[in-house]
Amino acid sequence: MTSRIKVHLLPKRANLGELTGGQVVVIDVLRATTTIVQALASGAECVMPFASVEEALAAAEEVEPTPLLCGERYGFKVDGFDLGNSPAEYTPSAVGGLKLAMSTTNGTRAMSYCREAGRILIGAFTNLSAVCGELAGLELVHLVCAGTNNQVTREDALLAGAILANVPGAEADGSGAELALTAWQRIDPANLATELVSTTGGQNLIKIEMGGDLEWAAKIDQFAIIPIFDPRSGMIRVG
Ligand code: MLT
Repeated sequence: MTSRIKVHLLPKRANLGELTGGQVVVIDVLRATTTIVQALASGAECVMPFASVEEALAAAEEVEPTPLLCGERYGFKVDGFDLGNSPAEYTPSAVGGLKLAMSTTNGTRAMSYCREAGRILIGAFTNLSAVCGELAGLELVHLVCAGTNNQVTREDALLAGAILANVPGAEADGSGAELALTAWQRIDPANLATELVSTTGGQNLIKIEMGGDLEWAAKIDQFAIIPIFDPRSGMIRVG
């Protein structure tokens, strides 16, 4: 069956009505979704995404056993939090068996925006084929890009294009999808890490000396896991 794939280059470009009950993939390549894939691949029990730092702090008070506090503001670890938003921090020894309460500037907000969807997958280049396999045969899929501070980012568009190019029988639905597919088709996937350097998120990370995270984000198919966010439980777990 043909899967129609729509790409919303920012969360607000998707109206809530069309997401309700739908199949959604949230994308924030640099770095929230890449880091969540890494955390779960390293054996974290779950990631609980929160739009605000205050909500993450409140969860840390209420949830048993106490979750690690994770995330960033301006790219840096939030004061008093255990971990920042660099995938390199999310090793098995740091997160194995633990619950993580996470808040990031754009990525966890995008997840919260999609909470009425029927199914929410977390997409990164590091789990590209796993996500694409899961989308095959679905009638309509929404790829929701987090962007950065309400600006469209090329790194998220590239992953949306890669998903479109790799879901068997996928058809680009609308201008966002066509733009994303064209952006992906213009690059050599073998040079993805270099391509990420010139993106908005890439430049922001390089400025704060976290450019090493681009290599992590560009490891296509490093993991075959599909994190699924269940807004009812508030948890992202491996599906
Ligand atoms: C975000 O959610 O805005 C990002 O993941 C930002 C970052 O990692 O610095």
